[in-house]
Amino acid sequence: MHRNQIVLVTGATSGIGRATALDLARAGHRVFATGRRERALESLKTEAAGLQLETIVMDVTKAESIAAAKAEIDERTSGHGVDAVVNNAGFGLGGPLEEISDEALRGQYETNVFGLMAVTRAFLPKMRERRHGRIINVSSVGGRVTLPMLGAYNSTKYAVESLSDALRVELRPFGVKVVIIEPGSIATEFAEVAMSSVESNSASPYAGALADAAKLRAMFDNTAVAPRHVTSAILKAVQSARPAARYVRPWRTYMMLVIASLLPTSWVDALLGRMTGLTKAKLFPAPRLDPSPSP
Ligand SMILES: NC(=O)c1ccc[n+]([C@@H]2O[C@H](COP(=O)([O-])OP(=O)(O)OC[C@H]3O[C@@H](n4cnc5c(N)ncnc54)[C@H](OP(=O)(O)O)[C@@H]3O)[C@@H](O)[C@H]2O)c1
Repeated sequence: MHRNQIVLVTGATSGIGRATALDLARAGHRVFATGRRERALESLKTEAAGLQLETIVMDVTKAESIAAAKAEIDERTSGHGVDAVVNNAGFGLGGPLEEISDEALRGQYETNVFGLMAVTRAFLPKMRERRHGRIINVSSVGGRVTLPMLGAYNSTKYAVESLSDALRVELRPFGVKVVIIEPGSIATEFAEVAMSSVESNSASPYAGALADAAKLRAMFDNTAVAPRHVTSAILKAVQSARPAARYVRPWRTYMMLVIASLLPTSWVDALLGRMTGLTKAKLFPAPRLDPSPSP
């Protein structure tokens, strides 16, 4: 068990990151909780009174912001840096791929993929030199199975999975362990943010499916579990002498992965199409006939 680690958490202003920062601090670790929203960081610091939790503003898409946070952490730790990085910052972009602009797609990758790599590169060297450290990447079950209307987001998590798989082997000789966390539906601000990019647009060829977005949201909300289901796995990833390569949480999400891997692709496609309203019946409803005037 590794105790009293210095841990950096990105995206700690809400949801999984916030809960992770608090749970790590409660477990006795020294936590640098980061994010963009200063007021949310202040409220986190207030909640963590008495714990070893410090906050620093850091936008993972901005090189100068990462460099400033690193310099600050180096100074506050007398040059030690961190023992573990939890790359958690991320968001979902919903909508049919045809209607997602290049700019929005690039924005997804800037945060979820390039941001994660930039933070990793900034904080890795000291861990590598000490031959001890952890890189914990919050991916998603959507990094293993793709959902229509979340293709842009899921593709970033597939990238996170692949980058993490390569990093795990590249860093093994240096004593730095790379762990992937794969959450299912978790009750955070995630769904709200993902839905904010889904516009109900009657002129869209996907209007019939977009009109069902609220149903999908309700399905998500009904199955979502508290962040603690994920933070317990992140704690293991930080503390365990031999962490697993992947943690899927909550447990029942395993079922979804197993079922998806066993069914023929055509069945999975049909199921997902029905779930998301991507069917001919929804997209091309028969025109309503006006009742004919009675003779
Ligand atoms: N909730 C789920 O069902 C679910 C499922 C699978 C995977 N995940 C993954 O879990 C991670 C955390 O999401 P969440 O569910 O906790 O959602 P959330 O409550 O919306 O939290 C997302 C966090 O990411 C931060 N963030 C976004 N852009 C950032 C940037 N450019 N720089 C720094 N921080 C940034 C946000 O902070 P600021 O806005 O203050 O910067 C916020 O703290 C994400 O990687 C998400 O993809 C979530």
